[in-house]
Amino acid sequence: MDKFVIDGGRRLFGTIRAQSAKNSVLPLLAASILTEQRVTICETPIISDVTCMAQILRELGANVQFNGENVTIDSADASEHRISSALTKELRSSVFMLGSLLTRFHRAACAYPGGCDIGLRPIDLHLNALKRLGVEIEEHDGYIYCACDRLTGAEIVLDFPSVGATENILLAAVKAQGRTVIEGAAKEPEIVDLQNFLNRMGAKIAGAGTDTIEIEGVERLGGIEYRPMKDRIEAGTYLIACAICGGEIEVEGVRGDCLGLLLHKLRENGCKIHVKNDRIRIASYGRLKCNRKIETMPFPGFPTDLQAQATALNSVCEGCALIVENLFETRYKYVPELKKMGADIEVNGRNAFVRGVKSLHGASVTCCDLRGGAALVLAALGAEGVSEVLDLAYLDRGYSDLSGQLKNLGAEIKRVRI
Ligand code: UD1
Repeated sequence: MDKFVIDGGRRLFGTIRAQSAKNSVLPLLAASILTEQRVTICETPIISDVTCMAQILRELGANVQFNGENVTIDSADASEHRISSALTKELRSSVFMLGSLLTRFHRAACAYPGGCDIGLRPIDLHLNALKRLGVEIEEHDGYIYCACDRLTGAEIVLDFPSVGATENILLAAVKAQGRTVIEGAAKEPEIVDLQNFLNRMGAKIAGAGTDTIEIEGVERLGGIEYRPMKDRIEAGTYLIACAICGGEIEVEGVRGDCLGLLLHKLRENGCKIHVKNDRIRIASYGRLKCNRKIETMPFPGFPTDLQAQATALNSVCEGCALIVENLFETRYKYVPELKKMGADIEVNGRNAFVRGVKSLHGASVTCCDLRGGAALVLAALGAEGVSEVLDLAYLDRGYSDLSGQLKNLGAEIKRVRI
């Protein structure tokens, strides 16, 4: 078990490059078994969610090799269609495997998926969509069993633009007979990346990034070498870190329009932001002002994965902020930890009311989920005195080198074995 020891109060300066996007790499890994040919995903972040997904692929019989940051999947010998419950519970993205297993074997079985405990996270939209494509589904003993003679294209209307359900439909419909149309699709940039990846394998998909995606089923898909998009949530985390600590940094690899409303909100705080192609520069000097309201929404709204970090920022700004979390029910578990550092925040259901304080102070705090953990690190970087942040396993799910990247920017942060 490791912890971070952070001596707060250092300004951040310098340039960093974002890692490849966790939320893109995970569905791409799931997609790798759609072909018997070799798939290489370049510059993969070495995070525990990726190693867990690699383990799932191995369990199915695929050969998965990491060569530095490149991962090559050869699933020619894969024959297993059931994912063990231990691995499914480790990682919510294991649910993507349903779509790709059905395409490859016409059968799939997995336990109810796990992942960060940030709310109910049902998978009804995934399962209903698969049924529309001709899949029969039975659920017993905590397992979901899916089977079909063949997948058949269909019109699917999503009641809510679920990222995972949209991706699962792409994976299940890519070789289905005929045409599938998704109405009410999620529009996140990672879905565009999955479309690009699948089209490079030979798929015929159009419309990702809009409400309507059309998939014309193809006969076969081939191998590919692919460089995924960069991680907009990691980039956003560093931009908010700079806003909290003060200083000037540049994050490379992510376009401003991928960050939804974040840049607008940072400007509202008083930060200077300059965007050029895939480089975002932020300058933060003096005390910032609270945002009046931040409400998380599906893309292109404010990302729920940056809600905790933005709350940490508002907790040290001048004034008051209302934060509204619309996507997940229990995404304020980090708030009691932030309060240990002196934050003044009241949570009521999906709302958090933040009264900005002049500064936070060092404390011993514990991560409760991935992004909430990141918020604690950012708060500690801006706080007066020394903090320790415990339970880094959550952070290791999504950030390949959080302390190294922050140290490069001038932060006093050490990873210590306990
Ligand atoms: C993905 C991201 C996660 C991000 C989230 C929202 C990955 C690996 N994870 O998660 O980091 O926070 O998008 O941007 O890409 N819902 C249902 N039924 C379903 C599916 C979802 O009710 O079948 C609900 C969820 O409970 C939640 C909302 O829809 O309230 C959004 O979920 P969804 O977009 O599916 O998120 P994930 O794909 O799980």
